[in-house]
Amino acid sequence: MEKLIITGPTPLKGEVTINGAKNAAVAILPATLLIDGICTIDNLPNISDVQLSCKILEKLGAKITWNNKNSITIDTRNITTYKAPLDLTSKFRASYYILGSMLSRNGEIEVGMPGGCKLGARPIDQHIKGFESLGAKVTVGNGTIYAKAKKLTGTSIYMDIVSVGATINVMLAAVLANGTTTIENAAKEPHIVDVANFLNTMGADIRGAGTDVIKINGVKKLHGNTTYSVVPDQIEAGTFMLAAVATKGDILIKNCITKHLESITAKIVEIGGTVEDYGDSLRVSCKKRPTKANIKTLPYPGFPTDLQPQMGVALSLAEGTSIINEGIWESRFQYTEELIKMGAKITAHGKTAIFEGVDKLSGAPVYSTDLRAGAALIIAGTAATGTTEVYNLEHIDRGYENIEEKFRNLGAKIERVNE
Ligand code: EPU
Repeated sequence: MEKLIITGPTPLKGEVTINGAKNAAVAILPATLLIDGICTIDNLPNISDVQLSCKILEKLGAKITWNNKNSITIDTRNITTYKAPLDLTSKFRASYYILGSMLSRNGEIEVGMPGGCKLGARPIDQHIKGFESLGAKVTVGNGTIYAKAKKLTGTSIYMDIVSVGATINVMLAAVLANGTTTIENAAKEPHIVDVANFLNTMGADIRGAGTDVIKINGVKKLHGNTTYSVVPDQIEAGTFMLAAVATKGDILIKNCITKHLESITAKIVEIGGTVEDYGDSLRVSCKKRPTKANIKTLPYPGFPTDLQPQMGVALSLAEGTSIINEGIWESRFQYTEELIKMGAKITAHGKTAIFEGVDKLSGAPVYSTDLRAGAALIIAGTAATGTTEVYNLEHIDRGYENIEEKFRNLGAKIERVNE
């Protein structure tokens, strides 16, 4: 079993370069199934969710060539089956994007029930509602989702809840449908804009991505022969911003889109950090102990749920008492149990947690309960006095490329060992 051993406290200092966005990449890869041709995708994060997506595409008949560790060329001309491998698709969440893409391309698809981080109930009713409104029949049972459509016809779909996954999936299904599809109450995250930009580069006609009304005018086909570069990862950038604050460090975060980080920047300034904005990079520093703040996670442009645990570490160490209200997931405070082992004073109940700031954390063996919880524990271990051992690294490897190397380059004493 692998674990990270971190000895702290270390104020993180130096430069870090952000990779492409996980949540854009895991949607763009299945979106290539809409193309009957070849395309190249650059700035792909080299993480296990991307490797898994590539494996699934290969099982469906795609040919993938790695140009370097962050670039692939993918040929989707010979997709040979409509059955996506159940064992692989049920390992992570974003496998559900194969449904939208293959329904559009092939009119028939079966995938395993999507897995992913355990953050409470993760229904997919809005995805199914969208597919059915476009004319598909969807059957869920025996651990699989099967969708079939003779033809898909554009229509107006109102999302009952703001959902990243359902917005992207319906967009994928509508790209080759007959006529115009309108998604109302759409999610607005940067990765939704990125998937729309990718599809438009390939010949789709999608307007309004990034607002809450997206219009997709169906086109006959998408062409290949194009190169697309994935948007920088807003959540990875935010993770290092909060690492700078929690460790009282000073980090230049390169290759990010600072506009995507406004809600995080505002909160960091509120708790006493300094953020200098250079357009495609940010310098974040914090000279003294952060101060308390209240946070509510919301869909973009609100404070992202995927940075809630990392912010929880900074608030555990803040002066005063803070409250975090989790607005997206039912169960995203599991990491607080681990921080408590390190001396944090947190009371979590349902979707609310109260953080009574302490002036230091102390090293302890801790377990990642999900991807962002794992990143938070690495930050906590770097800020804490003594030795922290972080277990369950498979969660972290799903979404962060070379995380320990990036922390080490910023001065952290961190190593990965295999027990
Ligand atoms: N929801 C429904 N019905 C649906 C879909 C969603 O009720 O059909 C609810 C969910 O239960 C949740 C809320 O709507 O309460 C938002 O869920 P959403 O669909 O937006 O989440 P997702 O698409 O499953 C993506 C990211 C998550 C991130 C959320 C919110 C990917 C692969 N995953 O999940 O990322 O937390 O959006 O921003 O894009 C992570 O990267 O660590 C991660 C968990």
